[in-house]
Amino acid sequence: MSTASEIFDTLSYGPAPEEAGAVRGWLEARAEGFALFIGGEWRASRQQNPRIPCVNPANGERLGSLTQSCAQDVDDAVARAQAAFGPWSRSGSERARVLYALGRLIQKHSRFFAVLESLDNGKPIRETRDLDIPLAARHFTYHAGWAQLIGRELPHHEPLGVVGQIIPWNFPLLMLAWKIAPALAAGNCVVLKPAEDTSLTALFFAGLCADAGVPPGVVNILTGDGRVGELIVAHSGIAKIAFTGSTEVGRLIRRSTAGTGKSLTLELGGKSPFVVLEDADLDAAVEGLIDAIWFNQGQVCCAGSRLIVEESVLDTLVRKIKTRLSHIRIGDPLDKAIDMGALISPGHRSRVQGLVDQAQAQGATVWQPQIALPQRGAFFPPTLLTDVSPANIVWREEVFGPVLAATSFRTLEEAVELSNNSRYGLAATLYTENINRALELAVKLKAGVVWINTTNQLDAACGFGGIRESGFGREGGLEGMLDYVRERDAWSDAPQSEAGSAGPPAADAPPEAIDRTFKHYIGGKQCRPDGGRSYPVSDSRGRLLAWAASGNRKDIRDAVEAAFLAAKWGAATAHLRSQILYYIAENLALRRDEVAARLGRLTGRKGARSRGEVDAAIERLFAYGGWADKYDGLVHTPPVRNIALAVPEPIGVVGVICPDEDPLLSFVSLLAPVIAMGNRCVIVPPQRLPLPALDLCQVLETSDVPAGVVNIVTGERDVLAETLARHDQVDCIWYFGSKDGSARVEEWAAASVKRTWVSHGRRRDWTSTLHGEGRTFLRQATQIKNIWLPYGDSP
Ligand code: NAI
Repeated sequence: MSTASEIFDTLSYGPAPEEAGAVRGWLEARAEGFALFIGGEWRASRQQNPRIPCVNPANGERLGSLTQSCAQDVDDAVARAQAAFGPWSRSGSERARVLYALGRLIQKHSRFFAVLESLDNGKPIRETRDLDIPLAARHFTYHAGWAQLIGRELPHHEPLGVVGQIIPWNFPLLMLAWKIAPALAAGNCVVLKPAEDTSLTALFFAGLCADAGVPPGVVNILTGDGRVGELIVAHSGIAKIAFTGSTEVGRLIRRSTAGTGKSLTLELGGKSPFVVLEDADLDAAVEGLIDAIWFNQGQVCCAGSRLIVEESVLDTLVRKIKTRLSHIRIGDPLDKAIDMGALISPGHRSRVQGLVDQAQAQGATVWQPQIALPQRGAFFPPTLLTDVSPANIVWREEVFGPVLAATSFRTLEEAVELSNNSRYGLAATLYTENINRALELAVKLKAGVVWINTTNQLDAACGFGGIRESGFGREGGLEGMLDYVRERDAWSDAPQSEAGSAGPPAADAPPEAIDRTFKHYIGGKQCRPDGGRSYPVSDSRGRLLAWAASGNRKDIRDAVEAAFLAAKWGAATAHLRSQILYYIAENLALRRDEVAARLGRLTGRKGARSRGEVDAAIERLFAYGGWADKYDGLVHTPPVRNIALAVPEPIGVVGVICPDEDPLLSFVSLLAPVIAMGNRCVIVPPQRLPLPALDLCQVLETSDVPAGVVNIVTGERDVLAETLARHDQVDCIWYFGSKDGSARVEEWAAASVKRTWVSHGRRRDWTSTLHGEGRTFLRQATQIKNIWLPYGDSP
């Protein structure tokens, strides 16, 4: 039998250019420049800004020019979207009909879209024709189904309003579809800004909206550069921002939306590992690598750009890669026989070249096949870097070009360590014929998506998105839909009780009222505060009741360290976590009267009410004992013969800042879902009323909770919140406090793109099982990993 490379050697291709007449005619008719799509109409900007040229990166040809939108254009688009929102959000079946029509219209114009996309972006027509455009259509038809079903499947939820969507240039129409389809399905209206380098397919799409029956104002397309993005992000009429692009801009958006109450999903950069074990089908792995890093010229956020190969097969694999790359054809993107087109721009090509040069200077060996590149245009050859150390720039930084960096490993542990040693966590690929090793690795890799013996698989039914500095939120599947809705009536605007200090002890406080000095609870032990300071806790009549430890940065750091070291909790079985939660509930029940009595003294509530709160806390612990082994994943079934296991995984170390109301119940309602899902927790009890939470220390000590899983630090809420939110080893922070405090937490969390859940100064009803417990909490305590498994050829 001939090998793949022998077959390649016998084949030669002549040029097979795609017919582009219709697209060129369309462009020529708009040679004077493209307008903005606002309220279902084409409109000139209200301000005369210099226009943005549209350039074909494969040859520098000018294709047209775009409008740079101004602030008034953004105001107009948001106003039209707001006006359209009410009627649009009411009928799911009407939305389903429109979304389905959009999908069908994309299919009907698929060749036009494919040619236009290739001209504008430089990617090969084979890719636009076979992947970008069909998948864009699929997003609309898939989400038509969600529009129909959402009211039934997500009762108690509602759309957000007007969503601002900002997308990059690497998959222009596909990113538009990823963003617009779920937003509309959920009943939102959108203001979308395509990337300034690649806006043409978005503008052609806008022209189809009326034909599909999209009501005016539901979809608005504003062109322009990052400044227009900033205006959209800052607009007060926008309820959510959905962004895909660089981590740097994602961080700016996190800062700018901090405290505004806008929802946010960020799909950012990546440096995804591609792990090949020695038992892998190496030829399949090579084809996987072609799809991983040379597809779309490597300009893919989830590109498998770090090759991590078992040492025994490194040389063979590298040889096979070089042979395969020597047969890559680079050229005119409209040529159906080429494999790689142009990078997005000459400027980007210089950036990629600069990173390769730096990598070489840092010790990497650079290999590129001897293949002809077109004379003009932003072309860059497929590049393989070997001898790459973990400190090398190409191992750490996103290149966003056709550049693969390779290294080897000896043990699975080393493979995991190398893979996870990155500030990103978007995707990971692994090739092995051994299903046990595959699943073992899939669980250990820190990524939002894991592909086994396949790569870069994307589908509307499967959530896509990252962790760490790759962002948060998911697009696709049920998990993606949840990011476009909110719970109805979950928050009350009655302000959260202000944190404030407990104040000095009342003058008439009898000394004998002081019954105890409460410490922190860190790493399974009660510890004195580092600063040696305590603060007074008074009863409902202002009499000093006890002293609580006043935590500082060092206490939080110690608690985070203890939580970090308790990582095994994440691997404990759901059954075990469930048993431990029941046990905590049981042990709290044994101390019910004592805890209720203290609660009564603190709050001044009648005995029955305090006992009621303790009973509710016990019941909540039982509920999460139940949830711990019942909140499990989904199996998505995309059209290709793959299944994707959507697994809710623990986030890691979660910092929790509790509100002052219902001090025991709110504390338990926040702690229990966090640990039920396998996270470790550093929790700051209600500042004014920390004693009921501290009573729980003894309960935890006797309930088999492993040391470090729960760490309790008392003190000034906002001071402790800052250290938690800024700490790199804290993966997520929940803040239930003031509006200002919420804003600061979101701002502090921006540096490491940490996930946050904040109250914005509002309250939840902790006594309600609908709003004080359940799936919302469990979802906030987990991150979905989609593990893709192929299961053979089509029948
Ligand atoms: P970018 O993040 O600057 O641009 C993405 C989108 O955000 C564009 O529509 C842009 O106009 C808009 N934008 C820029 N600044 C903004 C701001 N301050 N506020 C709001 N919107 C803003 O990405 P760029 O410059 O196109 O590419 C730079 C690098 O980012 C690439 O080399 C690559 O490493 C990475 N990147 C990652 C992508 C991904 O899919 N994760 C996509 C594109 C780029």
